[in-house]
Amino acid sequence: MPWWFFRRRSRDIAPAATSAPPSSGWRLGEVALPRLQGSRRYLQEQPYLLPKDLGEVNRLDFQHYILRAALHGNYLAPIEQPRRILDVGCGTGQWAFELAHQFPHAEVVGLDLEQVKPSASPPPNYRFVQGDILQGLPFDNNSFDFVHQRLLIAAIPQPAWPGAVQELARVTAPGGWVELVETGTALEDWLPSGPATQEIYTLSAQLGALRGLDAEGLVMRSLARYLEEAGLVNTHYYPFAVPLGEWGGRIGSLMALNVYEGWKGISAPIAARFGRSEQEILQLIEQAYQEWTQFRTQLHFAVAYGQKPLSH
Ligand SMILES: C[S@@+](CC[C@H](N)C(=O)[O-])C[C@H]1O[C@@H](n2cnc3c(N)ncnc32)[C@H](O)[C@@H]1O
Repeated sequence: MPWWFFRRRSRDIAPAATSAPPSSGWRLGEVALPRLQGSRRYLQEQPYLLPKDLGEVNRLDFQHYILRAALHGNYLAPIEQPRRILDVGCGTGQWAFELAHQFPHAEVVGLDLEQVKPSASPPPNYRFVQGDILQGLPFDNNSFDFVHQRLLIAAIPQPAWPGAVQELARVTAPGGWVELVETGTALEDWLPSGPATQEIYTLSAQLGALRGLDAEGLVMRSLARYLEEAGLVNTHYYPFAVPLGEWGGRIGSLMALNVYEGWKGISAPIAARFGRSEQEILQLIEQAYQEWTQFRTQLHFAVAYGQKPLSH
């Protein structure tokens, strides 16, 4: 049984900050009011699909270590001695904390809709800023030498991606780098897959599509193009796949547990939206988990990075 089963209750999470920029469209950036569904806590009036509670904090930290192992590091861009680093959608802040340790002379900013892990003792050169990428970042042009954004595929509606990446480029200093890390959302990003995996994938993709999220794997494949359209140069695109299940060794076992927990995190909204019982959805996720070893399923990811030209 994974260790995050022994989690504390969702009310241990700090409440959302109350200052927010004016809203439009999805009314994003407003106070991220929580909503309880089943035993999980979600943000309201946000396209963001995943829970915001202590169980998810633990899963995100766990996932951070898996991705760091898969990529042999925290980033691929050829950064040298950045003075200011920004992590957009920083989640638990773990990535940003590690960058703050690695670059003790840099100021590292983590931005998210709300702060989690209030009990953590962040490095002294780290600070949290509440914000919403879909409302524009609360920073001046050209303020950061390295801007990182990882796994906002379940948060940024597909049509908003080009604008979001332009916003990341806007706050990047000339000569600085933007790096994006995403997972695929097409069925072909879960291949080879069995029937339970295909069914739970389809239900989650449909749930995401209702919020405008990419359900066809287009965003992951377009990351380098978004960077180029935002005026960045020296772009690189690095696709990689992580095995799911014991057949893939330790990283495969860990990633399978991570995905299993991630899907469980949206079992209640899936059940509610598609008129199924949550028990039925949980069983489907359990079957999918078993299938990954049988079918040798892999999950696809990509990293894309690019540099803001000096003359920008
Ligand atoms: C799947 S988590 C990834 C967290 C972190 N980047 C990581 O890789 O561990 C997505 C994060 O994006 C945040 N998020 C969702 N919508 C956002 C938005 N519109 N602006 C900023 N952050 C957002 C969520 O609160 C969550 O912490």
